[in-house]
Amino acid sequence: MARPDHTVFLKRSFSRMDQLATPFLTGRRLCMQLARVVPYGTNGVVVELGAGPGVLAEPIRERLGPDARYLAIEIDPELVAHLRQHKPWLEAVEGDVADLDRILDDAGIDKVDAFVSTLPWAVFPQDLRMKVMGVIASRLVPDGVLSMIITWMALPKRVRDLRALLDAHFDEVVETATEWRNPPPARTFLCRRPLARPNSLDERDTRSAS
Ligand SMILES: C[S@@+](CC[C@H](N)C(=O)[O-])C[C@H]1O[C@@H](n2cnc3c(N)ncnc32)[C@H](O)[C@@H]1O
Repeated sequence: MARPDHTVFLKRSFSRMDQLATPFLTGRRLCMQLARVVPYGTNGVVVELGAGPGVLAEPIRERLGPDARYLAIEIDPELVAHLRQHKPWLEAVEGDVADLDRILDDAGIDKVDAFVSTLPWAVFPQDLRMKVMGVIASRLVPDGVLSMIITWMALPKRVRDLRALLDAHFDEVVETATEWRNPPPARTFLCRRPLARPNSLDERDTRSAS
């Protein structure tokens, strides 16, 4: 992982901790786990949400075929500038995931094969989470996958709400074991088979996180 990635991220965390949620970048092991939802050699569309300075860029790139598209969406202008300077081969988009539908339309993307997210979901208000999750589920191809991270800094109730939201939008949600070596410790959710009609949060089944 490139040292400048850490430096720029740490610097931005002093002024935008509300958006970054942590001064630490995702560690290599979790990056590899998150990127694994991208099938080797794919020529499909991969969209990363909350790309930061691009720690996931190489693990994702290693898996891409020659005709794949890799869109990296990030809200912070300095981190986007960093992405454009250090990872010019990916499509860095400065934008808010609240506008995900429009961002994908503007990029000429209809369907997505894999979403990889390190967004700070736990600090997002519930209406934003519902909006973004709805777009992710509606844009994924039927056998597409969403991988996302949740850190131990998230409050248990927020994690339960998030898990319920995932269960409402996906047929299968797999929660991995905690990676204790990540600063902070974190686990991933791997979500498959987006539901054409999301379940209501009130009618969800009992698959909530414990
Ligand atoms: C926890 S950091 C993850 C950074 C990096 N991808 C990693 O894995 O270490 C969350 C990232 O999401 C970005 N972010 C937060 N809110 C966002 C939003 N509404 N739209 C797009 N990006 C957002 C932050 O600026 C930050 O770069």
